[in-house]
Amino acid sequence: MSTFNDSWKEVMEGKTKFIIYQDAERIYDASVFYNPKMTINRDFTLLFLTVIAEDPSHPITIVDPLAGTGVRSFRILVELPTEKIDKIIIGDKNPKAVEIIQKNISDLCLEKKSETKRSDAYNTISSLIEKKEKIDVIDIDPFGSPISFLEVSVRALMRFEGYLLITATDLQVLCGKHSDACMRIYNALPTRHFLCHEVALRILIYNLLVSAGRLGVAIEPTFCYHHEHFLRVKVKITESKEKANEQHKKIGFVYFCTECSFYKIQQIEKSDVSVHCPVCMKKLEKAGPLWLGELYNKKIINKMFDVLDDLDLPTKKQVSQILTQVSEEEDPQPFFYFIPFVLRLLQKGGVSIKQIIEQLKSNNFKASRTIFNPEGIKTNASYVELVEIINKF
Ligand SMILES: C[S@@+](CC[C@H](N)C(=O)[O-])C[C@H]1O[C@@H](n2cnc3c(N)ncnc32)[C@H](O)[C@@H]1O
Ligand SMILES: [Zn+2]
Repeated sequence: MSTFNDSWKEVMEGKTKFIIYQDAERIYDASVFYNPKMTINRDFTLLFLTVIAEDPSHPITIVDPLAGTGVRSFRILVELPTEKIDKIIIGDKNPKAVEIIQKNISDLCLEKKSETKRSDAYNTISSLIEKKEKIDVIDIDPFGSPISFLEVSVRALMRFEGYLLITATDLQVLCGKHSDACMRIYNALPTRHFLCHEVALRILIYNLLVSAGRLGVAIEPTFCYHHEHFLRVKVKITESKEKANEQHKKIGFVYFCTECSFYKIQQIEKSDVSVHCPVCMKKLEKAGPLWLGELYNKKIINKMFDVLDDLDLPTKKQVSQILTQVSEEEDPQPFFYFIPFVLRLLQKGGVSIKQIIEQLKSNNFKASRTIFNPEGIKTNASYVELVEIINKF
């Protein structure tokens, strides 16, 4: 017997109409979780899948094992060209979620391209490994930390060179409000200061790298970003011990000054960094271990731009702004200078981020804004070189 009644309502996201539970004031208390603020996360996913499912002879299989209402999967099936998707396995451990997923599948007539599982995500993925099922994409979208699903997901994708997409919303942990928990869950030291979001993202990627490395697998970051209350990591999985060994050389620490924003990165095995800031002598903060390599594959970013107009995304304007910023961002160039601190140290007022970037570029340095902080600059100039440039104003 169905339990659907006036505790649910119909909503529209993108071009997809579906039902959600509406039986609590706060979204977190509803019987099944649906967060409209994650529309941008789903929009980016649609865009990304459009790009990676480019071979018409190879429609892709996706696993969405923490599906909630199933909105992510429905939007993929409704809004992407049908020939791109072979099948989506949609799972959740909450029986009410599975019930609403099945009702939505039936209302949207998506039975042919979907399979529903009422199961723990770990079991959903391991049963696919057991069956040797070919999987192209796994999308992990949990409450809080994705850590317990990383290794099993890599195992499921490693033979197929698939893509792993991960959301993390435990920013209170990864951004240092609960640093003990960050140490326990991610084995790393976070920060609460201006580098916090980039540190958080790189700590998450480091953890993925460690899980993959143990299996002789390398990861290629394609589009990893922070937005509002979440982190999103999208990587290609490649079975290669050699590449994995190379990647592990890009694990390290960042040391930075919370007074003047001087920073220095250090590979994990070389811990000869001075403890004090060479500029203002304050004790340096340390964060990590973390990933020091690239966050984006610019080819994929450009292709996402190219297909942006093919989709009718509700957050298109924001998506376009973020893609623009990311495509201009210097990468791999871990971390950035927080310009208000540099200007304060130099007692310079009235100099804009834009002017500083232009000056750096005209002095043959690479320089760009960063999605991690509107007042930050990523550049390959050293702190001393940056100061020289700013002092010319
Ligand atoms: C953040 S919500 C998913 C939201 C959904 N992916 C979306 O885009 O709207 C997390 C979901 O994971 C489910 N869940 C939590 N732990 C789980 C587990 N171990 N296995 C399967 N589902 C789980 C919860 O019931 C919840 O529906
Ligand atoms: Zn300093």
